[in-house]
Amino acid sequence: MKTSPPEPCPSSPSRRVEDAVIVSHRQTAANTFRLRVECPGIAASATAGQFVMLRIADRVDPLLGRPLAIYDTYRSVDDDIPHGERSERRFADFVYVVHGRFTTALQSLGPGERMTLWGPLGNGYGNVPTTGHLLLVAGGIGQTALLTLGRDRAVAGEKVTFCWGASSGSAFGDIEDFRRAGLDVHLATLDGSVGARGTVIDLLDGLFPLQSAPGDPSVAAPRHVTCCGPDGMMAAVSRWSEGRGLGCHVSLEAPMACGIGICFTCVARVKDPGGGWDYKRTCIEGPVFAGASIEWA
Ligand SMILES: Cc1cc2nc3c(=O)[nH]c(=O)nc-3n(C[C@H](O)[C@H](O)[C@H](O)COP(=O)(O)OP(=O)(O)OC[C@H]3O[C@@H](n4cnc5c(N)ncnc54)[C@H](O)[C@@H]3O)c2cc1C
Ligand code: FES
Repeated sequence: MKTSPPEPCPSSPSRRVEDAVIVSHRQTAANTFRLRVECPGIAASATAGQFVMLRIADRVDPLLGRPLAIYDTYRSVDDDIPHGERSERRFADFVYVVHGRFTTALQSLGPGERMTLWGPLGNGYGNVPTTGHLLLVAGGIGQTALLTLGRDRAVAGEKVTFCWGASSGSAFGDIEDFRRAGLDVHLATLDGSVGARGTVIDLLDGLFPLQSAPGDPSVAAPRHVTCCGPDGMMAAVSRWSEGRGLGCHVSLEAPMACGIGICFTCVARVKDPGGGWDYKRTCIEGPVFAGASIEWA
C-alpha cells in the first residue's frame, strides 16, 4: 500500500498536507472507533499533545476538516505498542466518538480508503513541567490527547497517575494501552458500572484527599495535573488543582474550521497579566493552556 510523499505546508515546515490511506479501523467502545492511517510525514514529526485536521478525500460533505488528537504513532501496520524512534514512525492512530457529520461518514470507511490530513498542529505539552508525579485526568473521549504524554513521562522515570471518568463503563476502550505505557490507571463512572461511582472529581478526592496535598513527602500526591475532556469537567479539574496548590494544564477541544490560525472559529478567552483577557486561537496558541489562565464560561 503506497501513499504520496507528504508536502510541507508553506506557512510552517513541520506542518504538512498529507494524502493518507486507512490501514485498519475497528470499534473499541460504545460509539467509539480507532482508525489507523499511513501518514509517514505526520507520524514521524508529531509530538505529544498535537492534533491533526482530517477530511475524507474526494468528498465535499463535510467540506471542512475536523480536528482529532494524535492518539499514538507506530512504525509498522500491525504494531500494538510503539517501537523504535519517533522519526521512524509511519502510521498514526486516531480514536473518535461518532458525533456529527464527519465522524458518522468516517465510521463507514474501511482499509484502502483515502483521507487528507494536515498537521501535526498545535503547541503540544512542551510547557507541562517535570515534577516527579504527573496526574493525567480524562473525561469522555479526552484520553486520546493524554496517552503519549503519559508514556513519555513514565519512560523518563516520572510517576504518572491516570484518572479517566465517563458516564458508563461502555465508554472505556483500550484501557490496556495506558497500563502498558506504565501509568497507574483509575476509573470512575457516573452509573458505577466500572471503577468508582461518581464523577472524576469524586475519584480525585478519594485518591488524593486534601490533607495529602503537596509538601507532604509521606504521601504520593501529584505535583502537576494535565487534563482533557468536556469544558465543564476541565474547569472543575482546574479548580480542584488550584485548591491544592497544583499547577494544571488543559487541552481544549474547541470546534475548529481551518486548524491553521486563519478563521478564528476556535478562540478561547485567555487571561492576560494585566487582569483582562484576550482571545487566543486554540489551534495555534493551544490546544494546551494553563487551566488557571482560561476564562471558563
Ligand atoms: C484539538 C482537538 C482534538 C480533538 N480530538 C478528538 C479526538 O481525539 N476524538 C474525538 O472523538 N473528538 C475529538 N475532538 C472533537 C472533534 O473534533 C469534534 O467532536 C468534531 O466536531 C466531530 O466532528 P463531526 O462532524 O462528527 O461533528 P460536528 O457535525 O462537527 O458537530 C456536531 C455538533 O457538535 C458541535 N461541536 C463541534 N465540535 C465541538 C466540540 N469540540 N465541542 C463541543 N461541541 C462541538 C457542533 O457545533 C455541532 O453542533 C477534538 C477537538 C479538538 C479541537
Ligand atoms: S481553527 Fe481557524 S483559527 Fe483556529
